[in-house]
Amino acid sequence: MIPSDVFRDLPVLTDDRLRLVPLAEEHFDGVRRMLDDPVGRRLTGTHHTFTDDEVRRHLATRADHHDRADWAITEAATGAFLGEAVLHELDAPNATAGYRISLLGPEVFSRGYGTAATRLVLNYAFDVAGLHRVGLEVFDFNVRAQRVYEKCGFVREGIYRSALYWDGIWHDVIAMGIIASDPRPA
Ligand SMILES: CC(C)(COP(=O)(O)OP(=O)(O)OC[C@H]1O[C@@H](n2cnc3c(N)ncnc32)[C@H](O)[C@@H]1OP(=O)(O)O)[C@@H](O)C(=O)NCCC(=O)NCCS
Repeated sequence: MIPSDVFRDLPVLTDDRLRLVPLAEEHFDGVRRMLDDPVGRRLTGTHHTFTDDEVRRHLATRADHHDRADWAITEAATGAFLGEAVLHELDAPNATAGYRISLLGPEVFSRGYGTAATRLVLNYAFDVAGLHRVGLEVFDFNVRAQRVYEKCGFVREGIYRSALYWDGIWHDVIAMGIIASDPRPA
């Protein structure tokens, strides 16, 4: 059994290019840009338009929520904000959480950041936090994200038919998951 506050004292996660640090108020400018990017909004199915107050409140309260882990993905060399990665929807008795990731915008897509950040988070989730399972949902048209998740060891588990309505079209949502004993290709 893992504790319901398993994400208290969230560690910094690093590799040679990235530094994932607890998401906080200092990341406002980057998060604001990310939330306003039309490409990212479609890929994440974000219908809601967040006000500055909502964003600031969200960032200011991250450290108070020990049942989820919100990281800012930053460039190790410069500290530049590249996006966010989140473990959320913790189900402690079943040692399960959900995962989502979003990079700043198309200018930083397809440079390997998403794959590297996801690997760091999964290593933390299974090897440090002791989770048994991490699940996620991804839209049928988001083939880049699906590729990244598969590269990191997520397995396609099913489809929610017509679960996203975007620009007048219904889209399927693909459920993916990885469990602690699954291979995590490097
Ligand atoms: C999804 C996301 C996190 C991926 O991170 P990334 O840094 O862009 O992706 P990476 O560079 O690590 O890897 C991209 C992979 O997808 C592949 N890819 C890119 N575009 C593709 C396309 N149109 N079709 C198929 N594969 C594609 C790349 O070739 C690469 O795979 P490879 O290493 O085997 O060549 C990032 O693009 C993002 O934040 N997108 C917007 C928000 C989003 O979609 N979030 C996920 C919601 S579920």
